[in-house]
Amino acid sequence: MRCPKCLLCLSALLTLLGLKVYIEWASESRLSKAYSGPRGTLPGPTPVSPEPTLPANLSVRLGQTGLLPLASWNQQQRRLGVLPSGESAEAGGCQAWGAAAAAEIPDFTSYPEDLRRFLLSAACRSFPQWLPPGASGQVASCSDSDVPYLLLAVKSEPGRFAERQAVRETWGGPAPGIRLLFLLGSPEGEGGPDLGSLVAWESRRYSDLLLWDFIDVPFNRTLKDLLLLAWLGRHCPGTHFVLQVQDDAFVHTSALLGHLQALPPSWARSLYLGEIFTQAKPLRKPGGPFYVPGSFFDGGYPAYASGGGYVIAGRLAPWLLQAAARVAPFPFDDVYTGLCFRALGLVPRAHKGFLTSWPADRVADACTLRRLLLVRPLSPQDSIRLWKQMQDPQLHC
Ligand SMILES: *[C@@H]1O[C@H](CO)[C@@H](O)[C@H](O)[C@H]1NC(C)=O
Ligand SMILES: *[C@@H]1O[C@H](CO)[C@@H](O)[C@H](O)[C@H]1NC(C)=O
Repeated sequence: MRCPKCLLCLSALLTLLGLKVYIEWASESRLSKAYSGPRGTLPGPTPVSPEPTLPANLSVRLGQTGLLPLASWNQQQRRLGVLPSGESAEAGGCQAWGAAAAAEIPDFTSYPEDLRRFLLSAACRSFPQWLPPGASGQVASCSDSDVPYLLLAVKSEPGRFAERQAVRETWGGPAPGIRLLFLLGSPEGEGGPDLGSLVAWESRRYSDLLLWDFIDVPFNRTLKDLLLLAWLGRHCPGTHFVLQVQDDAFVHTSALLGHLQALPPSWARSLYLGEIFTQAKPLRKPGGPFYVPGSFFDGGYPAYASGGGYVIAGRLAPWLLQAAARVAPFPFDDVYTGLCFRALGLVPRAHKGFLTSWPADRVADACTLRRLLLVRPLSPQDSIRLWKQMQDPQLHC
């Protein structure tokens, strides 16, 4: 009596299982065809592994094999166990680490000033939050019932009030599953005007500013990444995805959400998605913002997502922090994130909808943007104009 029912159940289950496997396989192959990157190349030499791993010695992962270049970063990475922890200024502390690294570079004094400053403090990575006087306006932790699906983590600088307001009024506005946070250094500036009271007002008004007490310069952007990851672990664990983005970007939030929701689970778990550079090399011409002296770094960059805007899986936060403790500091935040992902054995995914260097002479119109996920740089005025056009039900493309 019971056996025919069992068989029926079993065959129904098997059919369902087969269907699930087929659907996952079909959507994965369709997506990989659609989004195989602007250059059609598969980034990085590492195989696609869905789960992060962190070998004890990262040399091979990071390509530090064979005859080792004498450049300082390469030597440091070969030797590096774990970076000294931030606070202590004693021997072996982060300042000492920077001084020792600088002392090994024969032409250190000829480096541009921001690079010298970066190297001297690069291992110092714990900073307290900067709290407005009176300490109200603190950013709230996520509650259990309100875990963000997508956290918009916008790197801004204290003086960029208009850029932040444009984000709030457009793509970063309140929506289900979305949380908006701006990442900033100290508003007290260094030699500049003291923006402390203005930023304190803004923080009380909007409660969306995460501020830390370090000088807010481009070479300190990696601090924003790392301090955010640590903050997430403590205050918003469970966040599904994090968009790391500059404040001059325009994000087609609903399209991005749609794309993330349609990802095969195996991709979503280890996501690192954006406009991917696969063959980038350091620029050797002194004077530019991306100049890297030969005595500092030798070799090519890992495949990495342009820092203008990329999405990572929230569950990778603790993994990225572990990797960062063992990847030698590098001045550009997006290259450094690429190095950390490579250290974890995870590859970036390219998507043609991310355009992080939109040409200044090309007008951004709502019809073009409807087909994209993220564009930058745009002025606050352009962002507001486009947002209005895109909300318009009359828009015909
Ligand atoms: C890592 O391995 C390389 C050889 O592949 C070795 O030269 C280096 O000393 C090792 N680094 C550490 C920190 O053990
Ligand atoms: C980054 O911030 C720290 C702490 O304020 C500072 O010591 C360091 O010089 C800054 N880095 C750069 C490149 O200015």
